[in-house]
Amino acid sequence: MSDPVVSSRLLAAEMAEDDRGEEVRLRPQRLPEFVGQEKVKEQLELAIAAARGRGEALDHVLLYGPPGLGKTTLAAIIAAELGVAFTPTAGPVLQIKGDLTAVLTNLQARQVLFFDEVHRLQPELEEILYSALEDYRLDILIGQGPAARTHTLELKPFTFVAATTRAGLLSAPLRSRFGLILRLEFYQPRHLCQILRRSAKILDVELAEAAAEELARRSRGTPRIANRLLRRLRDYAQVRGDGRIGMEIARQALAMLEIDEYGLDEADRRLLLTVLEKYRGGPVGLETLAASIAEDAGAIEEIYEPFLIQQGFLHRTPRGRVATPLAWQHFRLTPPNGALAPTLQPPLFSSGEGQ
Ligand SMILES: Nc1ncnc2c1ncn2[C@@H]1O[C@H](COP(=O)(O)OP(=O)(O)O)[C@@H](O)[C@H]1O
Ligand SMILES: [Mg+2]
Repeated sequence: MSDPVVSSRLLAAEMAEDDRGEEVRLRPQRLPEFVGQEKVKEQLELAIAAARGRGEALDHVLLYGPPGLGKTTLAAIIAAELGVAFTPTAGPVLQIKGDLTAVLTNLQARQVLFFDEVHRLQPELEEILYSALEDYRLDILIGQGPAARTHTLELKPFTFVAATTRAGLLSAPLRSRFGLILRLEFYQPRHLCQILRRSAKILDVELAEAAAEELARRSRGTPRIANRLLRRLRDYAQVRGDGRIGMEIARQALAMLEIDEYGLDEADRRLLLTVLEKYRGGPVGLETLAASIAEDAGAIEEIYEPFLIQQGFLHRTPRGRVATPLAWQHFRLTPPNGALAPTLQPPLFSSGEGQ
């Protein structure tokens, strides 16, 4: 499902292959180290303390939000804070019923089973999960034809932690199995600064405060992007400078990498430019917009558009998406004069790069 063009972008929030090793090093292990997301942390702290106090398994948890905001990190932290084992799996990994049955029957009491990309779970497996999540039971069919019988396996009480970027794709019955449904938000620059300072320490590189602030502003509200930019700047500082990331080095490196001053990435720019140029700033319906940029409407709604709306580039209106004056300004384009009848204007069908 992940588009190869999208995931190869520097700013793509999805994890690139070369990130995996270093990302693990930078991943916070416990809740106090996890920066920001105060509401989510508060709810988790409370629920974890209560479950621990009762000696019970924590309620099932659904973590959702755009890529790179800390879902996988939090899932592992939940297990660490509960003091239980953590078993990770993912939608695309589990293909057959036997796989899921094996995973479920091997779980220890109160441990965490983490399921990444839960929107990619096969429908037949989802059905098996329902009873496992609801009453820790597994009904399996043994044998075939008239001799077949159902055998019920008792499972240990466990905690299912699921993550998804596409909560809208989950079925209502699956969603109803979660006691805690937590949405991760884009990070404020001050929180990204904190994350960057922490990462710089771990990577053993000197990062000036002003440079951290500049990086934070350009990281699309996303820790994964902030950490990735930090590593590129570390390389640049090592080769072109004295190894320290000061403001001047940061500016040069960000210019060389062509990082947008608001942290917008290629997909953001494509979406905004389509609204601005092809639809004169909108309103344009979600489905029409989706067709124009060959993206899935749901992906636009859940992955691309939330950041643009939060940053004030785009509005959702009952008639469709509308670009804001900030969007026109950012791409140095002039909005069509509202006083002119639209038919008097030349059609704007170019899809140039802007800037
Ligand atoms: N709140 C946070 N505090 C510090 N680092 C974070 C935080 N959230 C995410 N990160 C960093 O960003 C990286 C990506 O987070 P991850 O949990 O893989 O995101 P997701 O699963 O939502 O795509 C992690 O390796 C971690 O280093
Ligand atoms: Mg993840």
